[in-house]
Amino acid sequence: MMLGTVQLGVLAACIVLFVPMAMAGWHLSRNKMLFFSGALFISLAVGVHLSPYFLSITDFISSSSSSSSPSSFDSGNDRDFCLPLLHEIYFHIEQVRSINGTLYYLKSWGWPLSGAVSGCGFQKLGRSHASDFLNGSWVVVAGDSQARLVALALLNLILDSERMDAVRGDLFKRHSNYQIVVSDIGMKLDFIWAPFVSNLTDLMVEIKHYPSYPDVLVMGSGLWHMLHVHDASDYGVSMKHLKGSVMSLLPMSPELGDDGVVSGSASFRSPPFFWLGMPMLVDSMLNTEEKRERMNGAAFFAYEAKLRQSKILRESGGPLLLLDIHSLSRDCGRRCTEDGMHYDAVVYNAAIQIMLNALLIESHQNL
Ligand SMILES: *[C@@H]1O[C@H](CO)[C@@H](O)[C@H](O)[C@H]1NC(C)=O
Ligand SMILES: *[C@@H]1O[C@H](CO)[C@@H](O)[C@H](O)[C@H]1NC(C)=O
Ligand SMILES: *[C@@H]1O[C@H](CO)[C@@H](O)[C@H](O)[C@H]1NC(C)=O
Repeated sequence: MMLGTVQLGVLAACIVLFVPMAMAGWHLSRNKMLFFSGALFISLAVGVHLSPYFLSITDFISSSSSSSSPSSFDSGNDRDFCLPLLHEIYFHIEQVRSINGTLYYLKSWGWPLSGAVSGCGFQKLGRSHASDFLNGSWVVVAGDSQARLVALALLNLILDSERMDAVRGDLFKRHSNYQIVVSDIGMKLDFIWAPFVSNLTDLMVEIKHYPSYPDVLVMGSGLWHMLHVHDASDYGVSMKHLKGSVMSLLPMSPELGDDGVVSGSASFRSPPFFWLGMPMLVDSMLNTEEKRERMNGAAFFAYEAKLRQSKILRESGGPLLLLDIHSLSRDCGRRCTEDGMHYDAVVYNAAIQIMLNALLIESHQNL
C-alpha cells in the first residue's frame, strides 16, 4: 500500500513534467504549458484522492505495471470516456420579473454534478483561464451565421464589454471575413465567411500552403445550402470533398485507410479541429416563406445523414470533433430562439466551453 502511493506520486510527477514538454511539439506557448501542467496536476491530484472510491489501489497498480491493460489514468480512457459526455449539459430557464414589471427569461447552463459526467471534472473556463489557455494561439472559425455566433461567443469570453461592443459591430457586417488580434494575449482570431461547404474546402487548400496551421479550427456550414440549393446528395458530395481536403492537412494522413479509419492509432495525433453542427430548426418560427418551406425537420435529417455518411466526424473515424449545436439548441428549446435557427448566446457559450474542455482532454492524449 505504501509502495503504491509512492509509485502513484512518481507517476503523477512524471506526467506533470513530461506531458507539457511533449506538447511543445504542438506549438504551445510557455503559458499554455504552464496552464496544462496546472490542470493536469489538479486532475491527477483529485484522481489520486478519489481513486479508492472507484477502484482499489491494488487494481490500479497491477494494471499500470502491465501496460497492456488500460488503467483509469490512461489518457485514452479519459478521452474515450469523457469526450462523448461533454454534451451532456442541462439548461436552466427561469422567468423573472424585473423591477419595472416586465418579464424576461434568465438562461443558464451547466454540467450535472452527479452521474458519470461529474467524474470528468469539466469546468467552465473564466476569462483569465481562457486567456491563458489561448495565449499565443491562432483560432480560425469558418462557416455561416452559426459560426459567426460561435466566434462572437469566444470573443465575448475573452474580451471585456467595451471591446466587445466594437467587435460586435464589425463582426456583424454581413457576409464578410473578420480578423482580430487580441494583443494582450497574442491571440489571433480569423472569422472566415464560408456559407457553403465548397468554401470550407477552398479554405483547407489555402491553409495547406500556410507555414503553420491554426491552433484551433472550428468550421461548419449547411443552412445556406439547405435554403439555396436544397439538395442533400449534393451536400453529401461536397462533404466528401471537404473530408479529403481536411485529411490532406493531417500529419499522419498516409496511415489513414480509405474509409478514414485510423490504423495504428497510437501514433496518430488528431488536430484540434471541430465541426459545427446545424441547429434545431423550428419551421413555424422561421421568418420567410421560403425558409419555412425548405428548412424543415425532414431536410435537416437528410443533411444530417449526409454529414454522417461522409465519415468526416471523429465518431466515425474521421478528423473532426462534433460541436453538436443541434443537441444543444434542442435542449435549450424554443424559448432560446427568436427566428427558429439562430439561438441565444447561452447555446453558443456552452458550445465554446465544450470546445475548450475537449481541447483540455485532447491535450492529455499526448501521454
Ligand atoms: C425593464 O427592465 C428590463 C431589464 O431590467 C429592461 O431590459 C427593459 O428595457 C425595461 N423596460 C422598460 C419599459 O423600461
Ligand atoms: C501571454 O504570453 C506572453 C508571452 O508568452 C506573456 O508575456 C503575457 O503576459 C501572456 N498574457 C497572458 C494574459 O497570459
Ligand atoms: C462560396 O462558394 C460559392 C459556390 O462555390 C461561390 O459562388 C462563392 O463565391 C463562395 N463564397 C466565398 C465567400 O468564397
